[in-house]
Amino acid sequence: LVVNASEASARQIPDTLFGIFFEEINHAGAGGIWAELVSNRGFEAGGPNTPSNIYPWSIIGDESSISVSTDRSSCFDRNKVALRMEVLCDSRDNNVCPTGEVGIYNPGFWGMNIEEGKAYKVTLFVRSLGEIDVSVSLTDSRGLKKLATASIISSDVSNWSKMEVLLTATETNYNSRLQLTTSKKGVIWFDQVSAMPVETYKGHGFRNDLVQMMADLKPRFIRFPGGCFVEGEWLRNAFRWKETIGPWEQRPGHFGDVWMYWTDDGLGYFEFLQLAEDLGAAPVWVFNNGISHQDQVDTSNISPFVQEALDSIEFARGDPNSTWGSVRAAMGHPQPFDLKYVALGNEDCGKKNYRGNYVKIYNALKRAYPDIKIISNCDGSSVKLDHPADYYDFHIYTSANQMFSMAHKFDKTSRTGPKAFVSEYAVTGSDAGTGSLLAAIAEAGFLIGLEKNSDIVEMASYAPLFVNTNDRRWNPDAIVFNSSHLYGTPSYWMQQFFAASSGATLLDTTLDANSSSLIASSIVWKNADDNNYYLRIKIVNFGSNKVNLKISVYNLNGYSIRKSGSSQTVLTSANLMDENSLNNPKKVLPLKASLNTAAENMDVVILSHSITSFELLI
Ligand code: AHR
Repeated sequence: LVVNASEASARQIPDTLFGIFFEEINHAGAGGIWAELVSNRGFEAGGPNTPSNIYPWSIIGDESSISVSTDRSSCFDRNKVALRMEVLCDSRDNNVCPTGEVGIYNPGFWGMNIEEGKAYKVTLFVRSLGEIDVSVSLTDSRGLKKLATASIISSDVSNWSKMEVLLTATETNYNSRLQLTTSKKGVIWFDQVSAMPVETYKGHGFRNDLVQMMADLKPRFIRFPGGCFVEGEWLRNAFRWKETIGPWEQRPGHFGDVWMYWTDDGLGYFEFLQLAEDLGAAPVWVFNNGISHQDQVDTSNISPFVQEALDSIEFARGDPNSTWGSVRAAMGHPQPFDLKYVALGNEDCGKKNYRGNYVKIYNALKRAYPDIKIISNCDGSSVKLDHPADYYDFHIYTSANQMFSMAHKFDKTSRTGPKAFVSEYAVTGSDAGTGSLLAAIAEAGFLIGLEKNSDIVEMASYAPLFVNTNDRRWNPDAIVFNSSHLYGTPSYWMQQFFAASSGATLLDTTLDANSSSLIASSIVWKNADDNNYYLRIKIVNFGSNKVNLKISVYNLNGYSIRKSGSSQTVLTSANLMDENSLNNPKKVLPLKASLNTAAENMDVVILSHSITSFELLI
């Protein structure tokens, strides 16, 4: 393998090359990165046709002691449903409540993770015609043991009143629940009950451990919020950003009918922009362009969607005195967000109204925001697009063999015209299982091909990113979690091999090996942690034989490779189909070792079915 380090044959990789795609799928957001512990906090959840449903809230007590229903008496106009709880027993008279107290509980998203010593803020809205004495507690899964408790006592809540309590847990329990109980007769209405850990990622409401996994990939962009989630099975269930902003208690929430679950939309458009900023990643905002899986708006009626798109950009980056910029400012972010990329729809190119709707939105956006980069759903990798675009979206889900050979997909693509955004790629099907080594190796080969073609491929992201094990709608996914634990699949760790590539210098690398199972690339990059420059050579061996290679680096222009400080990292495992799991999260992990044989000329062994990175200090 020969690496020519001369500047003349080198090229800069786009700053944006590797990023992440976050979709609200598999409870990635609600019950995932959004740290809200209560599921269905406004009692509004339902199916596509049932607007109200208190699931997963349950009742503590029996028919003789408590009666629970919903009505439309909430003080919030956009989500009118409230829970009405009539307590029939009373600890002060003969009709003593059966369990001492009766009420309701919420198990969160398959159990709340409550940790000893940590604080949780519970906020709720309450109304009653009499006095109230309500216990707010975090308990074990059966309500037998209180981990933290506080009382809300008030003599006058005849108008809806907001209450807040801070609970500090005395014990850890991964499978906790939130209870609202009382032993006082009367009628109480509850609405918008929230429980949030006080400690969240950068204080912005995100679950620390999951977002840290995202941050560790050093993503240069984040595409959000979908995927099919943006489209909806039907337009009435699509993601419409205006319904997801403003005070959380006023958001209506919606049923995502593609992935079939309710979200309270605590993780809304604003929060996605905030997350992008917190990760130092460019936001890539995918919005609905009047097309869902089953229905679509005719181009002659598309103006409300055009306006919605324009308003979304004003919300993100408009002056704090503008109509929508002021809404953002009121949410605590007067500075504009750095929104430069928008995608019009998702996988809609073949749909009847796509081009018509697209062109109308494209023209309006470019007129108002000439610098905004617009991504089309139509694949321009083999044929020229018949409409204007800055990028075209390219999705690929396939077998391992096919993915590995796709390393050459863009070799023959025209070098002029819009750039490629490979916004969804993954090995799927039997080669992938729920996240195999085989899948990761094939994907690494594909990404090396993208690095080599990064003169025209400017952005790439794996899909999907997250899965909550309790609601697996798509296989495989890069990060697997439940309420308390998580792990990265081999495809997650594979991406870390590419985390330094965006913005790095790509060197001319020639592989003179008699094997079509090998692919390699080299970059020079500056590590901001130690301010040193490194030459990183990545070699993917998709084959079942180990390979002896001689590596030669020349044209170092006065620099030399230093033994001390150089290292080698390998991702492989005993079996090709090995996976990580909650029980064995570290089965397939990259292993890093120092490389004291580092030199301009080195003899190396590349293991079968492996990804190897030589990190050479120069
Ligand atoms: O990543 C999962 C789904 O795959 C996305 O929602 C969609 O864009 C694609 O079909």
